[in-house]
Amino acid sequence: MAFKDIAILLFFITILQSQLHKSIALDNKTLIKAGYWRYDTLNPPNIQSINSTLYTHLIYGFAELTFNTSTDQMFVTISDDHDEQVKNFNRIVKRKNPSLKTILSIGGTNQSSISSTMYLLMSNAYFPGRKYFIESSITIARSYGFDGLDFCWIWPSSSQEISNLATLLDDWRVAIDLESKQVKKPRLLLTMAGKYTPWIEDLSFPIESMRKNLDWLHVFAFDYYDPGTTNNTSPVAALYDPNSDLNTDYGINAWIKSGFPSQNLVLGLPFYGYVWTLLSPKNNQIGAMGTGPGPKDYSYGTEAETEVFTSTNGMLSFNDIKRDMIKYRANNSSYNSTYVMNYVTIGKTWIGFDDVKAVISKVSYAKKRNLGGYVAWQVSYDWNSVLS
Ligand SMILES: *[C@@H]1O[C@H](CO)[C@@H](O)[C@H](O)[C@H]1NC(C)=O
Ligand SMILES: *[C@@H]1O[C@H](CO)[C@@H](O)[C@H](O)[C@H]1NC(C)=O
Ligand SMILES: *[C@@H]1O[C@H](CO)[C@@H](O)[C@H](O)[C@H]1NC(C)=O
Ligand SMILES: *[C@@H]1O[C@H](CO)[C@@H](O)[C@H](O)[C@H]1NC(C)=O
Ligand SMILES: *[C@@H]1O[C@H](CO)[C@@H](O)[C@H](O)[C@H]1NC(C)=O
Ligand SMILES: *[C@@H]1O[C@H](CO)[C@@H](O)[C@H](O)[C@H]1NC(C)=O
Ligand SMILES: *[C@@H]1O[C@H](CO)[C@@H](O)[C@H](O)[C@H]1NC(C)=O
Ligand SMILES: *[C@@H]1O[C@H](CO)[C@@H](O)[C@H](O)[C@H]1NC(C)=O
Repeated sequence: MAFKDIAILLFFITILQSQLHKSIALDNKTLIKAGYWRYDTLNPPNIQSINSTLYTHLIYGFAELTFNTSTDQMFVTISDDHDEQVKNFNRIVKRKNPSLKTILSIGGTNQSSISSTMYLLMSNAYFPGRKYFIESSITIARSYGFDGLDFCWIWPSSSQEISNLATLLDDWRVAIDLESKQVKKPRLLLTMAGKYTPWIEDLSFPIESMRKNLDWLHVFAFDYYDPGTTNNTSPVAALYDPNSDLNTDYGINAWIKSGFPSQNLVLGLPFYGYVWTLLSPKNNQIGAMGTGPGPKDYSYGTEAETEVFTSTNGMLSFNDIKRDMIKYRANNSSYNSTYVMNYVTIGKTWIGFDDVKAVISKVSYAKKRNLGGYVAWQVSYDWNSVLS
């Protein structure tokens, strides 16, 4: 594998293509090249390892929501044990790339850990106190040196929560514009994370408010399948799927048809894959029968292995996939252009993920469809230090 690092690869693709663009004078728009960077208390990734020259925007995850029971108010906070980390983050990534913008994300992707406070905030009982949430978010962003705010809560579940979300974004935008005038600083960015389609069961995200108020939307175009929900090896982040609506192209079209501007959709790229255990190594196509997340007994390859596959739902970062491919001398991953995905088989272990080829196709798709750019989930899943 010539390129070990997807972000570096993307950088060169975009250089190449922006030169092509220049020569054919298509437009002057700069692509948003963003990445989430999630702070993990148990296993803190090294901020120094972020090559921030590869990005235009880095999104720090996640600020917390703190509920003050004596006042019934909800505040955005950075806990004491993250304080140093957040300061270092902004200092270090901006020193390496002075034009980089950083965004503080509120919420998260672990529904069970964030749901209670988010649902409280969005509930009719506490929603009237939203101005404390909004004001504290702006104060925190400014005091730590962020250039914007991101709302990462993709699970609104009732029409009430959706209409509250619309109002929240309206109020947030007004407050951000006002603050910018008051302190005479560039306006903070306001972004949000959304599902791959605008629909949530029979509800829809509040498109009109999102269109008016957001700078852009991070489309979480992944996790269509995982070994916890199906035993068949599956296209986990397919760009296309001839047999199902669970694919990125379908979702992007749905956002655009619903009235959300394509240039404000930023395509999520998963820097990870999912691992299945096959029933038989001989049947290793996409859709092959498996027996669950893999491997449980660490029996793949030739030697006993205890340090990999610690995840219970079978998720594996790009770094770890590449490490295992090298370790077990696996063949190159196969590319399937029907779905736009890669997969690799190591004994009974089957890994579906986006390798270089799938990533290249998705980035050219983003350009062809005039999307705003791409956002990696997540930056620390792709550095090549593990390969040494
Ligand atoms: C694997 O990929 C490398 C780099 O793209 C290429 O040079 C090599 O020929 C490939 N090997 C096989 C067996 O396809
Ligand atoms: C693109 O940039 C060039 C040079 O800066 C400028 O003359 C032109 O008007 C711009 N085009 C658009 C569509 O913004
Ligand atoms: C960071 O990315 C640049 C491309 O912008 C690349 O030239 C450089 O080698 C990368 N640095 C590291 C340490 O990977
Ligand atoms: C909650 O609000 C009260 C009244 O403003 C304040 O005294 C108290 O310190 C707050 N508690 C927390 C945990 O922030
Ligand atoms: C999600 O949050 C719950 C509740 O805090 C926690 O038990 C669980 O381990 C978290 N899951 C992940 C994948 O971090
Ligand atoms: C992709 O995989 C599916 C399922 O195995 C197969 O039907 C299809 O032909 C493959 N596409 C290509 C281009 O090989
Ligand atoms: C996958 O297969 C295993 C073994 O047959 C079974 O225990 C498990 O429930 C299946 N999982 C799903 C999601 O169907
Ligand atoms: C690599 O591919 C060759 C040819 O398809 C196959 O015979 C071999 O078993 C594969 N090796 C591994 C480790 O999967």
